[in-house]
Amino acid sequence: MILITGATGVVGREVVRLLVEGGANVAAVTRDPHAGLPAGTRLVHPAEIAAIDGVEAVLLSPRAVGAAVSGVLAHAREAGARRVVVLSAVTVRYPAGQARFRREFQEAEDIVRACGLDWTILRCADFAANTLAWAGQIRATGAVRGAYPQARTSTVDERDIAAVAALALTHPRHAGQTYLLTGEQSLSQPEKTAAIGVALGRALSFVETAPEEVRRGMLAAGLPEEVPDRLLGSLADYAREAGPTTGTVRRLLGRPARTYAAWAMDHHAAFAGEGRR
Ligand SMILES: NC(=O)c1ccc[n+]([C@@H]2O[C@H](COP(=O)([O-])OP(=O)(O)OC[C@H]3O[C@@H](n4cnc5c(N)ncnc54)[C@H](OP(=O)(O)O)[C@@H]3O)[C@@H](O)[C@H]2O)c1
Repeated sequence: MILITGATGVVGREVVRLLVEGGANVAAVTRDPHAGLPAGTRLVHPAEIAAIDGVEAVLLSPRAVGAAVSGVLAHAREAGARRVVVLSAVTVRYPAGQARFRREFQEAEDIVRACGLDWTILRCADFAANTLAWAGQIRATGAVRGAYPQARTSTVDERDIAAVAALALTHPRHAGQTYLLTGEQSLSQPEKTAAIGVALGRALSFVETAPEEVRRGMLAAGLPEEVPDRLLGSLADYAREAGPTTGTVRRLLGRPARTYAAWAMDHHAAFAGEGRR
């Protein structure tokens, strides 16, 4: 059985789908008894992880597991696990944004390396799905108001991360590897906005906005304080120096990484106005 933490996240859900499709037994950790995961998936509440048996491999999502990383890995080892794959971030290697966010990933990596299981570390660039945060304003105004337009990143499609994670969870040759997973195209924020416009078939604009205004807007929208800290800090750094671009997805999957333009096409309904959905 393969244990997937963060199973309802954009990566975890796709990993579950790929593994089930490939015939694996999957235990999905979620607090939601109606998580809508594929038939045959065993749902495990986070509080029940200690009780499960017969685990071969674990996908570790640091955000979902929080302070329980050591405990989850200890239970997994007792349950027979030999392998762990962790969803980390490129910021561990290419510092951007506030150090406290980077430290969370660094700490998870350190625990994983020392836990006695075969490990694979996936240091991910910013997920394409992060730009779903623009959907409300695009639907309402046809524009994105954001800070640091020149911040460039090679955003990675979360489905590519999931495909690599599924490989690493099931094939021993990825043990001891640290993979930097990015898209292959470094894009600024106006370029990403334009790609969504192409997917929608109408021009969208990116309106440069002072960071403080962006922060106030996010807090007014009810987002926790850490979200603007996390986002604006890294954008400021990526405006000074673009995020990394690698060919790792292509090397591991034997095909190019999915482009941001293709991601935008696949998710256009989320950005379309009423009546266009
Ligand atoms: N977004 C990025 O750009 C980026 C970049 C690099 C790395 N990462 C990392 O990649 C990993 C995967 O991200 P993701 O967006 O797919 O999903 P995620 O953050 O792992 O969240 C997935 C699920 O975790 C559960 N969860 C969240 N908070 C929880 C809490 N406090 N207690 C218990 N469960 C909780 C929720 O599931 P239920 O409600 O079903 O319980 C949630 O749907 C994360 O660790 C993230 O930090 C993200």
